[in-house]
Amino acid sequence: MMTHALRILLVEDNPGDARLLEDMLAADPPDCYQLTHVLCLGEALNHLAKGGVDIILLDLGLPDGEGLENVRKVRDLAPHVPLMVLTGWTDEEIVTGSMLEGAQDYLIKGQVENRTLARAMRQAIERSSLLTKAASTNVELQERIREKDILLSEIHHRVKNSLQVVSSLLSLESNLIQDPIVVERLRNTQNRVRAMAFIHQTLYQSKDFARVDFRSFLQSFAPTLVQSFSIHPERITLHVEVDEVALPIDGAIPCALIVNELISNALEHAFPGGRSGSVSVFFRQGSDNLATLRVEDDGIGLPAGFDFEQSKTLGIQLVHLLAGQLGGGVHFDQAGPTRFVVTFPLKGRESKMGAGEIGVNVPELAPRSGFESMSSHCSA
Ligand SMILES: Nc1ncnc2c1ncn2[C@@H]1O[C@H](COP(=O)(O)OP(=O)(O)OP(=O)(O)O)[C@@H](O)[C@H]1O
Ligand SMILES: [Mg+2]
Repeated sequence: MMTHALRILLVEDNPGDARLLEDMLAADPPDCYQLTHVLCLGEALNHLAKGGVDIILLDLGLPDGEGLENVRKVRDLAPHVPLMVLTGWTDEEIVTGSMLEGAQDYLIKGQVENRTLARAMRQAIERSSLLTKAASTNVELQERIREKDILLSEIHHRVKNSLQVVSSLLSLESNLIQDPIVVERLRNTQNRVRAMAFIHQTLYQSKDFARVDFRSFLQSFAPTLVQSFSIHPERITLHVEVDEVALPIDGAIPCALIVNELISNALEHAFPGGRSGSVSVFFRQGSDNLATLRVEDDGIGLPAGFDFEQSKTLGIQLVHLLAGQLGGGVHFDQAGPTRFVVTFPLKGRESKMGAGEIGVNVPELAPRSGFESMSSHCSA
């Protein structure tokens, strides 16, 4: 609500046109308007620099400036003062251009009368104030989003650090233990924790904190997993082929743990007695909205009578369980290279987990009857 007379800056070099506008404004009570009339762009800019202008009526054909350039210069100097363009041209391009440059409205000379002028000025002022408010709200929102992003990045960083501490503690613990079986189990647990730490690391290093760049995760995680088994890279070569796919965090963590189990198994069991060979990991995003993870090796093969469903060991139980949690299934192949294939839907899976539930639900792993309702299935 304006409490003082409306301070109008009229920039018009044509005395006839200026007179017409002055006459129109004079029809309203004398304390309504305070009019300053200048004849050229230079004078207008000088006046604007001093402030105290509520609205600008700007002619586009001036002795020292022509067309849209006039609008641009005025906008640059006084971006928040409502601007109306006066044009004798019915050139649509000029009119549209003026609006795009930030003018609130335009008046075609000769087609204006007192009431339309007053109303147009009022609306231009309202529009300008709404735009200014919207712009400042936008800036505020952007700032809040930025703050939240920093916070999320910080949280992922801290979670990753905490998981790394747990992993280091397990490593220290295993240094004090002689029993090779216990050492092996501690290393496997350490790798599970590391897999989760890597997911959080991938998240805080990316720009999108809700989705994990699974390619980047696999490419950095898989080689470190091989290193953790102290295997010479020339003895067992690792091949990773992965599509560019972003997984929500509640899908990425189970998937990372499955990858960890399957690669670990290949490294641990497929090449006994110093055998050499290769382990390959493929991750594909199909057009049918299904993701396919395949881990294969050319080692000695699965033991005779291997029963995926009835396995009592933790690794295979975890794969079974986590695939079910992803709403997917597991197939394995033992003729030829040992191959495990996990497929799961990429979309529509989020609703299966509770709101706000992030990460992996690992129900108790025993007794086996606890798995009977899981949706994963397998085939030999
Ligand atoms: N790629 C493979 N090549 C050969 N044997 C395998 C392979 N993957 C799994 N196995 C066999 O399946 C068994 C079960 O695997 P699982 O991961 O459940 O247990 P684990 O690796 O022995 O121990 P952990 O529970 O710590 O993972 C292994 O002990 C091994 O005999
Ligand atoms: Mg295992």
